[in-house]
Amino acid sequence: MQTLELRGVGKRFGALQVLKEIDIRIEQGEFAAIVGPSGCGKSTALRMFAGLENPSEGQALADGVPIEGPSPARMLIFQEHALYPWSTVEDNVGLGLELAGVPKAERIRRVNEVLEKVNLGGFNRYYPSQLSGGMKQRASIARALVMDPDVLLLDEPYGALDALTRLSMQNELLDIWSGSGKTMLLITHDIDEALYLADKIYVMSARPGQIVETIRIDQPRPRDRSSEAFAEHRRNIMRLLGLED
Ligand SMILES: Nc1ncnc2c1ncn2[C@@H]1O[C@H](COP(=O)(O)OP(=O)(O)O)[C@@H](O)[C@H]1O
Ligand SMILES: [Mg+2]
Repeated sequence: MQTLELRGVGKRFGALQVLKEIDIRIEQGEFAAIVGPSGCGKSTALRMFAGLENPSEGQALADGVPIEGPSPARMLIFQEHALYPWSTVEDNVGLGLELAGVPKAERIRRVNEVLEKVNLGGFNRYYPSQLSGGMKQRASIARALVMDPDVLLLDEPYGALDALTRLSMQNELLDIWSGSGKTMLLITHDIDEALYLADKIYVMSARPGQIVETIRIDQPRPRDRSSEAFAEHRRNIMRLLGLED
């Protein structure tokens, strides 16, 4: 189980300062979200936790230890579900296990278990092109989950889905997380999605991205999207993002 931390993190790409003095700490088992304008460095921050980017200043830590590179304990899920079009769902989902040398019988068992969990039971032999957008995204989540990671890093996973599919995917994600002890970090441009899911929302400024506020959401789940508390938080975040009218 992993605690995630950025301590005094800055990031430059050449002359471009993308992140500035970022301090965040996500406890193990916590569900955190990041919202912020496009280009403010959200994906860059997430990729640091995935071990795919290094800070220019400061440190990215998992359980207090500097992150040196990718780990199966921290799995990244993004919108362009990178499923191999020439492989079936079960082969796509089982690939990580195969690369890790897990024997076939156990692989099949774990793939089936995880497909059930994401509501894709019975779609083992389908190819990605035969799946809806939501089902492809479920397969991507399954591919991450099958490795039994401590941390799920989700980069606008539902950005390409229609509104109704998104709502059911949010509930499915809560089911996956509830009681799992997994640490979740979700980037989303959908404020309501962050409010519905997260224990804690980091609101970021335009580039160079800084944390302008950390908002705790204490409402019990499942949350009522039409509650006054929800509306209040929504207004506050819109104001922080400069989106109020
Ligand atoms: N590898 C890279 N090399 C150069 N510039 C990059 C690289 N990755 C991201 N950027 C730039 O950093 C900025 C922040 O990118 P990103 O983290 O993807 O923002 P966000 O996810 O908030 O939209 C953008 O201007 C982007 O073009
Ligand atoms: Mg991004």
